[in-house]
Amino acid sequence: MRKAIIAGNWKMNKTPDEAKALVTDLIPWVKDAACDMVVCVPAVCFQAVKEAVRGTNIHLGAQNVHFAEKGAYTGELSAEMLRAVGVEYVIIGHSERRQYFGETDITVNKRVRAAVRGGLTPIVCVGEKKDEREAGYTDAIVEYQTRMALTGLSADEVKNIVIAYEPVWAIGTGLTATDGQANETIGVIRRAVARLYGEDTAAAVRIQYGGSMNPGNVKGLMAQPEIDGGLIGGASLKAPDFTQVVLFDR
Ligand code: 13P
Repeated sequence: MRKAIIAGNWKMNKTPDEAKALVTDLIPWVKDAACDMVVCVPAVCFQAVKEAVRGTNIHLGAQNVHFAEKGAYTGELSAEMLRAVGVEYVIIGHSERRQYFGETDITVNKRVRAAVRGGLTPIVCVGEKKDEREAGYTDAIVEYQTRMALTGLSADEVKNIVIAYEPVWAIGTGLTATDGQANETIGVIRRAVARLYGEDTAAAVRIQYGGSMNPGNVKGLMAQPEIDGGLIGGASLKAPDFTQVVLFDR
């Protein structure tokens, strides 16, 4: 039985003061949540959020990590640096990074390996674009992205990572994959993991859905057997909305 995991991806939103206010609002509402809970915040907010969530069930996440241990990589942060300020999870390969910042399946894989070896739990994003779904390539795309992202990891390492299936056409658009589409494609990803690492690993790895997940659609999505959680953008920026998503089982 996999424990659900709901993560907020704040993207490029919130100053440290705003971040502190948001998590401080959230804490009492979500303190009895049955799922694991993560907020992936901008790096400037790590300190404020870390202090605010100390001793609570909210975990701190980042939105990217570099693959080198250190060196001449202007603007980047290493796994060791993230760990040092209390980061436990890190989103890798988000479609916005693939689209706007030249992230490829190879750099995604390098970042995933660096995260795992550096003691962080990656939340690895995969997902097809609109034209790819319409042309019938969804399964091939997510399978390829999954195989690439996991290359070089052991079965035990894969068991502990999180994969997020985020159809690109559903991100920030208000369009959501139907419960059935999300469940089916996550099933494709799980079978890809099974072929690479065996049934035990595939049964253990947690796979989230992401893309316009909100209080209105979370129950239906989370009722699907393959869906183990959500990666939430817009709805994670307001405490009442994120609370309702996190408490999807109430
Ligand atoms: P939205 O929930 O705003 O569609 O964003 C989803 C997402 O990209 C989470 O990583």
